[in-house]
Amino acid sequence: MNKIKRFFGELLGDKYYCGLDIGTQKIKACLSRVHDAESLDLLAVYESDTKGFKDSSVNDISDFSSAIGTTLDALVKKTQVRFRDVSFSVGGDLIETRVSRAVIPLAERGNKLITDHDVRDVRRQACLLGARLDEEVLCDFVRYFKVDDINIALNPIGLYGRKIEVEVMMVVANVTRLRNVSKAIKQAGFEVNNVFFSGQVLVDTLMDKNKRNDGSIMIDIGSKTTQILVFKEGLLKHYAEVPFGGEHITRRISQLLGISRELAEDIKRSYARVAESVTSSDEEILIKKEQGFVPVKRALLNEAVESEVQGLIKHVHDAVENSGYAGQLKGGILMVGGCVLLPGLMERVERELKMPVSLGRNISGLSNSASFCTASSIAEASYKGTARYFLDTRKPKDWLTSLQGKVEELCNEYF
Ligand SMILES: Nc1ncnc2c1ncn2[C@@H]1O[C@H](COP(=O)(O)OP(=O)(O)OP(=O)(O)O)[C@@H](O)[C@H]1O
Ligand SMILES: [Mg+2]
Repeated sequence: MNKIKRFFGELLGDKYYCGLDIGTQKIKACLSRVHDAESLDLLAVYESDTKGFKDSSVNDISDFSSAIGTTLDALVKKTQVRFRDVSFSVGGDLIETRVSRAVIPLAERGNKLITDHDVRDVRRQACLLGARLDEEVLCDFVRYFKVDDINIALNPIGLYGRKIEVEVMMVVANVTRLRNVSKAIKQAGFEVNNVFFSGQVLVDTLMDKNKRNDGSIMIDIGSKTTQILVFKEGLLKHYAEVPFGGEHITRRISQLLGISRELAEDIKRSYARVAESVTSSDEEILIKKEQGFVPVKRALLNEAVESEVQGLIKHVHDAVENSGYAGQLKGGILMVGGCVLLPGLMERVERELKMPVSLGRNISGLSNSASFCTASSIAEASYKGTARYFLDTRKPKDWLTSLQGKVEELCNEYF
């Protein structure tokens, strides 16, 4: 019954989609409206401090719920749109990744034409086998298919075979933790539409097919963790979640300058940058402390930033090496996340990795687009998963091909 209600709701209901990106430090939200069948208009974004959520779990439901409520109500106020459904994404420590394999027979005798149904079946089987009872599978990335033990990299649909095998990288999250997040959203007066893995929505909406084939990297740098996804030949070749984020830079500034974390955060946002070269300048910055303005050496601030950035560069280098495709990633790097706002960071990654780097999504009129890439991608992904999108974007030719496929499939099955 719920499924039917949802189906008609998607077709007839409003055309607004809300994405909620729950980070360790900030909750970011975005409201978008359907522009045409293929694209959305971003109406408003808002972010507020994450509260009641620590070590990847809700530790105070009323604080957490009110932080979510503040963020979403601000969107309602800004846009004057009273939306109800919200999709959220998780990543970082809240998820776990695991490799799983499955093989299923296709036909008792002879061969059978492989259909998208068979592909879905074998992937579902791999996920069922790989997940524990207390886990929800958020998504799976295919690593390879094998048809009759022969490796088929990307697409086995349309081939003949007796058995099909798949290896997937599953992304799972603890069911209880997810339920607590959903409960907090409901408590704030909203309904949960979809739960996504943040890495998947970013790749699905920002990295096109050509980039994935040519070899590209998606890097999401948050406050405590960085997620790195390396694609080549259309497939995920390597995933790494590394302990680096804006908070590491803040802590290092606080240590080196002997100031509080809060002041170090302010200084980072106002003055820090990734220097083009290490120079021993005598330049001083005046920072406001309780007792008045105090001079701080720019060189010391640069040193704090530099030591942490070197760590990030090493993590990205390692991810490229571990993917097995060093020197073959021609599609470039996409970067998202609040830490990307640090001036000079994208340029430094470009120089050191010798690959073109660009911002995941440039949101016009926003100077901090990097922070809202995930939230806007969640809104887009939730629209693209609806029946409305499916029906609106299918052309008569697609319906005909699909009908032909079904007829062919039936003929193969029974004759
Ligand atoms: N203008 C800025 N300059 C430099 N750093 C910034 C700027 N604005 C935000 N940041 C940093 O971005 C980080 C927060 O980024 P983001 O909102 O993507 O993290 P998060 O999603 O809360 O964390 P995570 O993804 O690790 O859970 C903080 O460390 C913050 O200091
Ligand atoms: Mg984040």
